Amino acid sequence: MVSGMTQSHPRISKAVIPAAGLGTRFLPATKATPKEMLPVVDKPAIQYVVEEAAAAGLDDVLMITGRNKRPLEDHFDRNYELESALQKKGDAGRLAKVQESSDLATMHYVRQGDPKGLGHAVLCAAPHVGHEPFAVLLGDDLIDPRDQLLKRMVDVQEQRGGSVVALMEVTPEQIHLYGCAAVEPTEDGDVVRVTGLVEKPDPADAPSNYAIIGRYVMDPHVFDILRETEPGRGGEIQLTDALQQLADDEKVGGPVHGVVFTGRRYDTGDRGDYLRAIVRLACEREDLGPDFRAWLRSYVTEEM
Ligand code: UTP
Repeated sequence: MVSGMTQSHPRISKAVIPAAGLGTRFLPATKATPKEMLPVVDKPAIQYVVEEAAAAGLDDVLMITGRNKRPLEDHFDRNYELESALQKKGDAGRLAKVQESSDLATMHYVRQGDPKGLGHAVLCAAPHVGHEPFAVLLGDDLIDPRDQLLKRMVDVQEQRGGSVVALMEVTPEQIHLYGCAAVEPTEDGDVVRVTGLVEKPDPADAPSNYAIIGRYVMDPHVFDILRETEPGRGGEIQLTDALQQLADDEKVGGPVHGVVFTGRRYDTGDRGDYLRAIVRLACEREDLGPDFRAWLRSYVTEEM
């Protein structure tokens, strides 16, 4: 028998991955390649994100793409030429690696057209998502595969309804780089109630040190709000502005809760963080790690 809870809250199965930004911080690498395709060790950053969605049980993935969408689509599609060449060589290991990305999830794509901001990118998902709660994973935000975040957010949304954002404590000097949340505690240590949001505040105006990072579980009412949302900071339609409205109105898509994340997260659209992600993940790899760590140790002691 299906419980009332399950009937009113269908299990979340759809993930939306906005990947249509211009990636200007990473030029010239991103002139003809989406930043999400830059490799982190030996996989493009976006593959970690799709793997994370699939691991949390979200196997219907809609990617919002921009002008350079081709490599993204190709990466998650079959490559018969490469597969048959590897088959002929009997190279089962590499064949598995090629097939891995096309077996992860059912992939869908929609073009954003003009990159008018993250809120606008999410709105492009409305016809595909329909009336169900759904997850949003930013394609350039990498959560370490060993740190569970999305699954916890899906559980919190299913228990509490409304929308859920991921929060991470940053220093006062860093808060101007993020959306920032005013919060109240709840009875769950890692869950807070979000009472207000402000996009990229000056440190003096920041209501907390809680930064919004690139994972969301959204109530579909957000689409109605985004349709009415005027361009905000930077002339872009801001997802944070729509979330503020959800937080204000419990009956229409709210409340908004935050899951406080204390694990490892990298912004692969930022050059410094991108390098840190590669070094850390490479050091921890069983195949590459031992040699790479030895080299890194001697490089740091002898040359720095
Ligand atoms: P960013 O704020 O990192 O912007 O977007 P950006 O344009 O991609 O990169 P920079 O700052 O110029 O280097 C956050 C996320 O939202 C997506 C991006 O692809 C990224 O995953 N995004 C942003 C869109 O899909 N569409 C937009 O119009 C803006």
